[in-house]
Amino acid sequence: MKLMQLYATMKSELQAIEDQMAQTVTSDLPILSETSQHLLKAGGKRIRPVFVLLSGKFGSYSLETLKRVAVPLELIHMATLVHDDVIDDAETRRGQLTVKTKWDNRIAMYTGDYIYAKALTVITELDKPRIHQILSGSIVQMCIGEMEQIRDFFNVDQSVRNYLRRIRRKTALLIAISCQLGAMATNAPVKLSNALYKFGYNVGMAFQITDDLLDLCGTEKAIGKPPGSDLRQGNITLPVLYALQEDGLKDRLLNEIALIKEEEVANSTAAVKLVRSSVGIKTAEKLADRYIVKALKALESLPDIPAKRNLADIARFVAKRSY
Ligand code: IPE
Ligand code: IPE
Ligand code: MG
Ligand code: MG
Repeated sequence: MKLMQLYATMKSELQAIEDQMAQTVTSDLPILSETSQHLLKAGGKRIRPVFVLLSGKFGSYSLETLKRVAVPLELIHMATLVHDDVIDDAETRRGQLTVKTKWDNRIAMYTGDYIYAKALTVITELDKPRIHQILSGSIVQMCIGEMEQIRDFFNVDQSVRNYLRRIRRKTALLIAISCQLGAMATNAPVKLSNALYKFGYNVGMAFQITDDLLDLCGTEKAIGKPPGSDLRQGNITLPVLYALQEDGLKDRLLNEIALIKEEEVANSTAAVKLVRSSVGIKTAEKLADRYIVKALKALESLPDIPAKRNLADIARFVAKRSY
């Protein structure tokens, strides 16, 4: 099933969120409006606001309240992407030029900061300190995750555990709190918001593993950026770590990674080919599937409302996604 079909029941709510995001980042300074709306207009899956809305169905649903969580969470995600593309030196995202390429790194840093700040002005309209604490805690973790990633560039000796800890911070927590805060904002019982957090966390882990698989196996058209970018940057992801455990392949792969690091090759094509031919792809897919199973398990304790089915369908989409 396509994402748009999965979102069909939320079409008008999502449009309201879209409108408020555009309005939120509008500035009197034309360049800030232009840079911050650039990525917004390029689209994206909007999975975080969708999780906020669906989780809000487990409490006293109010679109007005949920907008104050969904809009900031998607904007914070977007701000991190603007910064991430500086760190990853990425030319394209969502099939468009990145802010850092269309303008420059300095403009991208302040565009990201600006989007962050605007996101905070929206969420602070909610008079629930615990929500603000959870949000800031997860942004701190995200910064740690991205810093760990920089530290671990080209580190071929890192463990799978190390990788999992990093993606938990950089990706899974924001998805987990999208679910948790949607429920908290609408005063759902703590037991439910905790179960939704667990659901989101496991979906988030699968989500980043799949993102890393797509970087190796996807097409530029589907993923909106050239494949092989992670290895070109020295980002050693799960399929690569598994491929490095394969005896007959390890030395050749280490050699290719060393050539990228020493800038003796301009792209990661040969290394990507080796990883694609390894068991690393299948093994990583299996782990992503295991996270999805755990996510579905976390849903079991929730009341049987249509949102539960919707969440399960989106979780299944995440493991199978091609974009
Ligand atoms: C990309 O996130 C960065 C990751 C955390 C993997 P998404 O895949 O949600 O990006 P968009 O919003 O759909 O472009
Ligand atoms: C996304 O990470 C950034 C954050 C989660 C903060 P990646 O660098 O892996 O994602 P893409 O592939 O650029 O979207
Ligand atoms: Mg990155
Ligand atoms: Mg990136």
